[in-house]
Amino acid sequence: MPTLVHTPRELRAACDAFRARGERVGLVPTMGALHEGHMSLVAAARNAGAQRVAVSIFVNPLQFAPTEDLAKYPRTLPEDLARCDAHRVDVVYVPSALDMYPPGFQTHVEVEQVTRVLEGATRPAHFRGVTTVVAKLFNAAGPCVAAFGQKDYQQWRTIERMVRDLDMPVNVLGCAIAREPDGLAMSSRNRYLNPDERARAVAIYAGISAANEAFGRGERAVGTLTTLASRPIAAAFDSIDYVAIADAADLTDRQVEAGEQAVMLVAARIGKTRLIDNARLGERLVIG
Ligand code: PAF
Repeated sequence: MPTLVHTPRELRAACDAFRARGERVGLVPTMGALHEGHMSLVAAARNAGAQRVAVSIFVNPLQFAPTEDLAKYPRTLPEDLARCDAHRVDVVYVPSALDMYPPGFQTHVEVEQVTRVLEGATRPAHFRGVTTVVAKLFNAAGPCVAAFGQKDYQQWRTIERMVRDLDMPVNVLGCAIAREPDGLAMSSRNRYLNPDERARAVAIYAGISAANEAFGRGERAVGTLTTLASRPIAAAFDSIDYVAIADAADLTDRQVEAGEQAVMLVAARIGKTRLIDNARLGERLVIG
């Protein structure tokens, strides 16, 4: 079983002990409800040179708006620990909200431009919550490498920006999206879907694939590509928050023409669940 730690001090002591033996530490920050997508991040951290991997499990209240699903976010610690054990994770860090944000806490980390659009447009405090907790996790663990999934594309780009701007000595990996056999991007929130919603949810992948195939055939008009993606999603989902094409590096909006450095990003709602997905246009979408 991995070593279970609960406070920043305990996490630091565990990681320092590895470093004292000359072992490089990798960190995989999560909110739990772990699935194979998370485990691919553990593997990615190892492939990037971490001899020891710590996984943090913390449902971070700071990144949820009062109207969002903080209370009902899935909490599955026994299963998460078993999965970490099966994947030879060395340390699992499970702080309480009080360990993370003791009374008097008042310091936040905010990345400005890249957080204003897409997710940030409708969830104004979300990325400030993410960067604050990730900065704290980096400070406590001191990892050489940290792995994030590209499903949360804007989150990955935001964390990269934070690390660059604040000279944090950590190599941030953006790992390929892990998909179910039918293409649905793996997500802890997929557990919310009932069987009918789960069957319909694959439309998000169908939409992105349709746009990507058209891009492959030479289509560059943003209006055409977003219409192609939106059609199956609108038919299967209850509402679409956005279907957008943006610059893959800084997420500035592409309104007319999608160039080589373009990413398509989608957020849509099915029943009470909000799903996101994305793909770099021109890259093969990998399933399984
Ligand atoms: O992607 C997530 O699960 C969370 O946003 C993260 C990075 C663990 C921060 O709470």
